[in-house]
Amino acid sequence: MQSVNFSPDDNSPNQERVYDIQDAVTLHNRSIKVAHVGVSYRSLEALVDINCIVKPGRLTGIYGPNGAGKSTLMKAMLGLVEHSGTISYQGKPLTEQLEKVAYVPQRSVIDWTYPATVWDVVMMGRVKKTGWLRSFSGVSRQIAKSALQRVGILEYRDRAIGQLSGGQQQRVFLARALAQEAEIFCLDEPFVGIDQKTQTVLFEVFHELAAAGKTVLVVNHDLGETTTHFDDIILLNRQIIATGSRKQVMTEQNLYRAYGGKVMYFSDAA
Ligand SMILES: Nc1ncnc2c1ncn2[C@@H]1O[C@H](COP(=O)(O)OP(=O)(O)OP(=O)(O)O)[C@@H](O)[C@H]1O
Ligand SMILES: [Mg+2]
Repeated sequence: MQSVNFSPDDNSPNQERVYDIQDAVTLHNRSIKVAHVGVSYRSLEALVDINCIVKPGRLTGIYGPNGAGKSTLMKAMLGLVEHSGTISYQGKPLTEQLEKVAYVPQRSVIDWTYPATVWDVVMMGRVKKTGWLRSFSGVSRQIAKSALQRVGILEYRDRAIGQLSGGQQQRVFLARALAQEAEIFCLDEPFVGIDQKTQTVLFEVFHELAAAGKTVLVVNHDLGETTTHFDDIILLNRQIIATGSRKQVMTEQNLYRAYGGKVMYFSDAA
């Protein structure tokens, strides 16, 4: 551990190094730390002794075959399923700080017949900042409008969500997440059933969020070209197979251990 004396008026060359060290400590504190996490659904052990770190300022993918426990890991982080072990953020359980988290669940679990407009859904993202039964401020409305504009669907603001295409629906939920002004963004399989244009918008937004220092965690089962967008990968199949940078994780051996048999995956390693 390096220690450097520092006073605010000190313009010595050491000052820059002090900031470097402090930045590193801050980034480390702002990582989500998953330690010895296990989840059981009655007799089924869905996750066993999961250990990983999710870093801010990076786009992290959770990969693994169907039934590997990808959604379960995300739900455990959000306190939606009971788990053993700990999931902490800035030294406290993440579940005590859910106001910092925006979550977009797997499309299949959303009730698309719910009678809400695009605008209603995005304004739901402002509820935590506003409080129930209080009216939304002009600032909240402006934030919701900007979020819809960012994902390119402001013109659909008065449409019922059930009347949108899959890609448009996914954009609405991303806009709601943006309107939350969260620090941590968790999205479960956002690329399923969407067109290329929506996929491009999603990745653009994810990269912008990561560049702004946010934590972006995305479940993805596509081993195709989308993989190359991710900085870090958590590869699992009930247990952690590998975790770290994409290049470290996406090796033939690790993919074989996760998926079994021979898998085709897109590699930009050449
Ligand atoms: N509520 C539940 N009750 C009982 N078993 C469950 C429940 N939810 C998930 N499971 C089981 O736990 C395992 C992990 O499920 P999970 O949904 O986390 O997998 P996944 O990796 O997200 O899969 P997919 O790629 O199909 O979305 C599966 O075997 C699943 O059948
Ligand atoms: Mg899933």
